Amino acid sequence: MTTILDAVPDDDELGVPAARLRSAELERQIHERPGRFRALTGDRPTGRLHLGHYFGTLHNRVRLQNLGVDMMVLVADYQVLTDRDVADRLAEHVEDLVLDYLAVGVDPDRATVFTHSAVPALNQLLLPFLSLVSVAELGRNPTVKDEIAHSTQSAVSGLMFTYPVHQAADILFCKAGLVPVGQDQLPHLEVARTVARRFNSRYGPVFPEPEALLSAAPLLLGTDGGKMSKSRGNAIALAATADETARMIRGAKTDADRHVTYDPVARPEVSSLVLLAALCLDRDPHEVAGEIGGRGAAALKAVVTDAVNDYFAPIRARRAELALDRAHIRRVLRDGNEWANAIADDTLKEVREAMKALY
Ligand code: TRP
Repeated sequence: MTTILDAVPDDDELGVPAARLRSAELERQIHERPGRFRALTGDRPTGRLHLGHYFGTLHNRVRLQNLGVDMMVLVADYQVLTDRDVADRLAEHVEDLVLDYLAVGVDPDRATVFTHSAVPALNQLLLPFLSLVSVAELGRNPTVKDEIAHSTQSAVSGLMFTYPVHQAADILFCKAGLVPVGQDQLPHLEVARTVARRFNSRYGPVFPEPEALLSAAPLLLGTDGGKMSKSRGNAIALAATADETARMIRGAKTDADRHVTYDPVARPEVSSLVLLAALCLDRDPHEVAGEIGGRGAAALKAVVTDAVNDYFAPIRARRAELALDRAHIRRVLRDGNEWANAIADDTLKEVREAMKALY
């Protein structure tokens, strides 16, 4: 018998192979006519972003923005409440997230950065959307099941089951066609597609069906060899100092084989370090490993530390400078929220028209 506790979603269950193929085709279309696309993606404001976020998604968002895609970047503040009772130090985390975005190159002149709690019409879409999905469907979502299995809360809240529908509102309120995400988000994207389809067939065409854009995200492990996560204390923050970075890399787990190679399956910890250096140096990981070879783990760690600190020095300097101007951060959010509200108001009006609920 399978229980919720052994529900570890695998690639096929998440639909990864099909999404990869489709993403390659979408990339081709984006390069042809970037201006045709609006993309939405975002993060929960629960603390500072780390190098896994950077190479996994932030880098890709900036790339899309620079190509000319209309980028919407969401600070998903309500979503923080899925697995905890209170969103601790929320305002601080929101500001930190915006600082991280701006430091890595999200440009408020070209991209919209907003918080969904400040956009009432977006949240109102949740009501009709919830009527379009069944309780059984909500209970089957593999990412939600996985989060419940790992939750430390004694009771699972209603928001845990319904937040993917709220996330559908995040995406559909601005009719984003592209959602650049990691594979754990594919089930949520399926919810958004289902909601769009069912709304259109029940009330008439309003929403395009959004598509996932999976980046070829390299999988970076935390310094303990587990999944990189700020809550596990194994993540190097984007905003870490050079010394903090050096200390964390010095303490990173390796293995007993002195000869450094790049072999992610057999040697995940060593390979993740090699990969991190390779990403920062924009080089092939096999080559990086080959050059270190028999010089061992200490030499590898020295190479990784220098590579990370050199690569992130300008980003960190920019972040420190931006952090001095809190008024600017607040202005970026205020402007983003204003624009998001204008879009959401239009969409809600269309929705109410389609539902014949305009009085
Ligand atoms: N669930 C996403 C995460 O935890 C954050 C998120 C909220 C999101 N709304 C979204 C991502 C809409 C993409 C689209 O990382």
